[in-house]
Formats: sequence, C-alpha cells, structure tokens
Amino acid sequence: MTGARDLALVIGSGLEALGLEIVARSSTHTPYGPPSSALLTAKIGASRVLCLPRHGEAHTIAPHEINYRANLWALWQHGVRRCIGVNVVGAIAADLAPGDLAVPDQLIDYTWGRPGTFGGADGRVVHVDFAEPFDAELRRALAAAARAAGARVVEDGTYGVTQGPRLETAAEIDRLERDGCAMVGMTALPEAALARELGMRYAICALAVNHAAGRIPASATIHGEIERHLGEGMRRMRGVLERLVEALRA
Ligand code: HPA
Repeated sequence: MTGARDLALVIGSGLEALGLEIVARSSTHTPYGPPSSALLTAKIGASRVLCLPRHGEAHTIAPHEINYRANLWALWQHGVRRCIGVNVVGAIAADLAPGDLAVPDQLIDYTWGRPGTFGGADGRVVHVDFAEPFDAELRRALAAAARAAGARVVEDGTYGVTQGPRLETAAEIDRLERDGCAMVGMTALPEAALARELGMRYAICALAVNHAAGRIPASATIHGEIERHLGEGMRRMRGVLERLVEALRA
C-alpha cells in the first residue's frame, strides 16, 4: 500500500459527502467486541489510507453507543500509530463560524457511562498523562493542510464533548462557554483518551456545521444550518485530508 501505513482516519458524520473510494475491507474482531464497521481502505489522493466510520457505514450507531475501545483496538492491531479524528461540531466561540474548520488543542468531558479505558480488567489501573490530549505535530500538519486547501481554519480551541444523541440546551451551551469551550461535539472522548492509552498519536480536524444551541441566528434553524454546511464542508475536508496524507507520507 502506498502512503502512510501507520495512519488512519476515524470519520464521523458526513462520511458520504467525503466521497471516499473504498478499495478494500477488512472485517475484524477485538477482545472488546466488533468495531463500528470493517476497516476500510480508501484512496485519498495518491494514497491508500485506513478509514473507520465511527457511526458505522450506514450511520446507525449513536455517539454514546459507539464501541470506542473496539475501534481503537482494531486500528492498533492493524499497525495504526497515528490517528486523525474527523468530527463535526457546533460552534460556540465567536471566531468559529459554520463552514470553518478547527484543530482543537483541548478537551472537556461532559459524557457519562462510556467505557473509557483498556485498563482495569486485570487489576492494573492506568493513569495516562492527558494534560495535552492531542499530538502537536499532527495538529500542525492538519492546520497546514487546511490552510493549503484554502479552508478557513481556527488552529486551537477547547472541544467540549457532550453525551448526545440529543443536541444541547441553550443553558448547557452557556455553561460550556463559561468553561472555555470553543466548540461542542459528541465523539472526541473517550476516543482521544483510548488512543493515548495505546500510545497512538491523535489529533482532530473538526468541521463546524452549526451555531451551538442558543446561538442560532433568528433566520436559521440548527438542522437547516447542519444541512447547509455538512456536505459542502466535507467536500472541503476531503481536499484537506488529501494534502494531509500527502504530507504525512514523507
Ligand atoms: N452539539 C453537539 N454535537 C454537534 C453539534 C452540536 O451543536 N453540531 C455537530 N455536532
């Protein structure tokens, strides 16, 4: 396989609009059960890259139902050591608008009840260093790829991870804003923490598809904004990923 063999993309909503050309599928099982789908090999630019749709190929798995441990374990078993999460988010910060990309540098966890560690079963508790949850080099590469693709990109910001699947109340978003969150999504955790436990380098490229609850312009609706920005944004994301994969091949 040409390209970065140790690289994988874990892709969320908007998978179809990315228009990936799947050239191979590999079904796999893990000690944690099945991952969200077979591991897909997709052609991205001149490279072939392992991709895993975290909601399943038909988008049937809700954020709180995703088997994050199986997903990360399956990728690790396949030799993945660098992982990019492709996520959609709601925009909270004033400098982030629907259609923009963001490369977050911090996380706050508002989820509950998600199995979030590989440790524990054999009595060994793991306390990974998670002060900086994302890999700095992958973040730089993502920001550079986004700029090169002509996308508007916010190069940092805190991603607040909510439980879903419902969207937030306006008061919940007010709280996230007070906490310092620039964006809100439902799937960055425990994915990022599990990658860290495995020693996998991990970063996120987030596409803002709506203003978060309570921040929607009077003339719009949250679902209208998502519909408007998801397809177009993901087509732009594809250009970013092509550049990223090319840069990481070296
Ligand atoms: N909230 C949570 N997750 C999301 C949102 C949102 O507004 N938009 C896209 N994913």
